[in-house]
Amino acid sequence: FPETRCWLNSPDLFESCLKPRPEDSHKGSYGRIAIVGGTQGMSGAPVLAAKAALFSGAGLCYAIYLKNPPAYDPVSPEIMFRAAHQFDFATDVIVTGPGLGKSGAARDIVIKTIEAHTPIVLDADALNILSENGAIAQMLSERDSPTIITPHPLEAARLLKTTSDVIQANRLEAARELARRFKAVAVLKGSGTVIASPDGKTVINPTGNPALATAGTGDVLSGITGALIAQGWPAWEATLAAVWLHGKAADTLALRRHGPIGTVAGELAPEVRLQLNLL
Ligand code: APR
Ligand code: MG
Repeated sequence: FPETRCWLNSPDLFESCLKPRPEDSHKGSYGRIAIVGGTQGMSGAPVLAAKAALFSGAGLCYAIYLKNPPAYDPVSPEIMFRAAHQFDFATDVIVTGPGLGKSGAARDIVIKTIEAHTPIVLDADALNILSENGAIAQMLSERDSPTIITPHPLEAARLLKTTSDVIQANRLEAARELARRFKAVAVLKGSGTVIASPDGKTVINPTGNPALATAGTGDVLSGITGALIAQGWPAWEATLAAVWLHGKAADTLALRRHGPIGTVAGELAPEVRLQLNLL
């Protein structure tokens, strides 16, 4: 029988992964994360993800560009920028996709990501590349390290070769099918984000609101997810926590601070940090 139950996401499901920080810990204790993406015209996407990763507690964060990485970001000078050809991918987790584009070089970097023996998060154009290339999808289902995929409904429709209307009318089943087919923790984004595991667990997220309906908030989610994995959280709990915190941050900003209009993605990170510390 297929698993038909589903749970409501809440801190009960993941807060046991939050460990106190030992007095003698150092940045290496909290993991290294690489965010890969940022083609021309979308150079800000990896920065949003990287900033969210640092505010979510990652020890050290690289932003990897296919070419022409910026020297540094004056607003987030903690981020270390590298070009893909000079990076060895020796990190604890890789997040690939924010603003990546779909060039041949982008495809090669998605393959390199999938070949890494670390947990990976695939988002945005990494998912579009996956949709168009059966061999890459096959590689994904043969990985032995955890994979997380974070499609919005249109990306999910491309992955499952259907339309976003069909996805939206069957969100639970769509998330389960994505998780099964790609052997990944699947996050079907949008109002009432659904998180499914390859072994059939399904969770619906109650936090979040239309304040998140703005460019770059998906990049922030991928950065939070990667950061929790870098800190040693299992992929499933890291994903549940990231989705919950991302929505909770938007709820606090929109409901308590400035109202529903005009939240921008870059504002979420400090609020995510606060909510994480409050768990
Ligand atoms: N209620 C709750 N959550 C919402 C709502 C809503 N009404 N609207 C949006 N969200 C949340 C989604 O659940 C998701 O977490 O906001 C986030 C939006 O993520 P995306 O759809 O991925 O949007 P975006 O960040 O703009 O994606 C940008 O994708 O287009 C590519 O390469 C581009 O890297 C870039 C990335
Ligand atoms: Mg996106």
